[in-house]
Amino acid sequence: MDLNGKIVLITGGAGGIGAGTARRLAKRGAIVWAVDVDDASGRELEKELGPPHRYRHHDVTDAAAWKSLVAEMRAAHGGIDIAFLNAGIMFRARGAPALGDDLIDLVTRDFDRYRQVMAINTDGALLGALHCLPAMGGRGRDGGGAHIVVNSSDSGLRVHPWDLAYGMSKRALVSMLETLAPLYVKRGVTMTALCPAGVDSGISPSDFKERRIAQGQDYASTDFAAAAVETILHEGKPGEVWMARHQDHGFWVYPLPAVPAQVDAMPGKPRIHPYVPLQD
Ligand SMILES: NC(=O)c1ccc[n+]([C@@H]2O[C@H](COP(=O)([O-])OP(=O)(O)OC[C@H]3O[C@@H](n4cnc5c(N)ncnc54)[C@H](O)[C@@H]3O)[C@@H](O)[C@H]2O)c1
Repeated sequence: MDLNGKIVLITGGAGGIGAGTARRLAKRGAIVWAVDVDDASGRELEKELGPPHRYRHHDVTDAAAWKSLVAEMRAAHGGIDIAFLNAGIMFRARGAPALGDDLIDLVTRDFDRYRQVMAINTDGALLGALHCLPAMGGRGRDGGGAHIVVNSSDSGLRVHPWDLAYGMSKRALVSMLETLAPLYVKRGVTMTALCPAGVDSGISPSDFKERRIAQGQDYASTDFAAAAVETILHEGKPGEVWMARHQDHGFWVYPLPAVPAQVDAMPGKPRIHPYVPLQD
């Protein structure tokens, strides 16, 4: 896809991977709308990028706000070509340590935080996908293609032993992709997922980073994740999952569905247990 002149929406666009992607796509000639709840960082980015790029306050969990954001973008440009649904949080507050807590106890004590993780990471991305679709006008505003990239995580593909809510919220996005990508492609929109692992942003708990570095696994840059998004926009096929682990490894691309549509085509042999009907 030629990115020049494309209208791009980036949620969670004020910092980390979102801001890195805004910078990269703006350099390629796209017109970026970065939206976030961190207005101070968002305004800084808006100043750095300059017009025609914009920052807007937008909480991805707010369905009414989605309606007005998409309406504003339609009024300004006639629609949206690309959406990077990237906003996300982890269960622990930014900068707090993660290791050493009892995971079950943690979620039991603060179920509201669990709900917030699910609301931002999962509901926020679903709302974005649903609201952007009608503004994508089939194959984008000029027929040159429309693409939604959902930012899941390597935690969406494997067990996340330190953050139950985060792992659940990110796995749900892979399930969303499996279901929606084939439907969206019929409406002219490619849907793919990015699954980063260990990117140097503010989201990771402090001790994760220390431990990874002690194990000789340094963090990837936010531009590495942004480069993955750019490459996905050029080459990503509907339903693909792009794992971005570290700059030394490049991007690992997995086709979906990972799980077959037919239950009897599941890999491996199931253990079969007989059914015993209820007797009088
Ligand atoms: N950094 C990593 O190692 C890593 C790995 C896998 C996946 N991810 C995913 O990448 C995405 C971006 O994370 P990041 O690493 O850049 O961290 P980050 O904390 O720098 O960026 C997340 C952004 O989302 C914004 N946000 C939070 N709640 C919001 C809401 N309700 N509405 C709109 N915006 C909101 C934050 O203000 C922040 O700017 C997240 O979805 C994260 O789960 C990150």
